[in-house]
Amino acid sequence: MTSQHPGGTVKLGPYEIARIGYGAMQLEKLDRTAAGAVLRRAVELGVNHLDTASFYGHTTVNQHIRAALHPYADDLVIVSKVGARRVGAPVPLTLAQHPSQLREQVQLDLTSLGLDQVPVVNLRRADQGPGLIAEGDQLVPLDDQLAELIALRNEGLIGAIGLSNVSTQQLKQALPAGIVCVQNAYSLINRSSEEQLRLCATNGIAWIPYFPLGSAFDRLPYAPFDRIPSPAEHPVVLRIAARLGATPAAVCLAWILAHAGNTALIPGTRSIAHLEDNLRAAVVELDEDALAELDAVVSA
Ligand SMILES: NC(=O)c1ccc[n+]([C@@H]2O[C@H](COP(=O)([O-])OP(=O)(O)OC[C@H]3O[C@@H](n4cnc5c(N)ncnc54)[C@H](OP(=O)(O)O)[C@@H]3O)[C@@H](O)[C@H]2O)c1
Repeated sequence: MTSQHPGGTVKLGPYEIARIGYGAMQLEKLDRTAAGAVLRRAVELGVNHLDTASFYGHTTVNQHIRAALHPYADDLVIVSKVGARRVGAPVPLTLAQHPSQLREQVQLDLTSLGLDQVPVVNLRRADQGPGLIAEGDQLVPLDDQLAELIALRNEGLIGAIGLSNVSTQQLKQALPAGIVCVQNAYSLINRSSEEQLRLCATNGIAWIPYFPLGSAFDRLPYAPFDRIPSPAEHPVVLRIAARLGATPAAVCLAWILAHAGNTALIPGTRSIAHLEDNLRAAVVELDEDALAELDAVVSA
């Protein structure tokens, strides 16, 4: 495998990122050495886009990233998200949607990652699942949150603004703020955000699907979330993978890359073998028959 950017590159606002990046959420459960090995292998193989959050552990994942990769390469784009925070047991995660809380989380990212500016920060809305759903005083108007993020950008503490878990209407509402990416749950078998994807494509916004392989939510301490089906287990995927001599995971990722040119992937894994497999999605060639069959797979 070469060390060029896997899958080529795509624009993420002012940055140029590899079309296959790495979602670091699961590193929370690895120790510093094991997490560092995965991160360094990703960068070695051309990944220059990492997805994280201060609430992946009590900044645990950010600390892993800093320990493994700081001082950062000039072209490394670390993307974080705000909208939740870590608390103690028994419920490890709680929403933190207020503008002042968003600012606190950016500060936490800056100190734990050792950055002067977080390149991109996604506002993670919680109007609907997966995950926690906002209620009571956590129901905060989107415009108030955007105003805070714009202020943070004007102050130079964040480089650009993204959105996560948003409806089409919310995305349209936020466009004047200058949105560089949208991160919604999306995969071969979950196309509920197809409309948002198309709106992003029209507006030059990067599409960064989370759960492209069905998620690792069931393996993290964010209970009580059930296992989300994996597209890699779909019979059509298994058949095409066998025919093409690729793994089912790589076929799922290759389909998303082929489906939308504005996509940048952030599959998550704790395994170097799986990381390498996911990066090989860049070289899986889906022929016309395979694409047609995969296109026709309907959301579960
Ligand atoms: N914006 C948001 O609200 C939000 C929410 C959740 C996640 N995210 C971001 O999105 C990223 C991706 O989400 P995710 O990690 O939950 O889910 P995912 O990428 O859909 O799937 C991860 C799961 O697939 C397995 N896997 C990965 N590569 C594999 C391969 N080649 N073969 C077989 N199994 C494989 C992993 O297990 P192994 O560890 O065993 O490989 C893990 O169980 C996260 O890391 C996080 O950065 C964002």
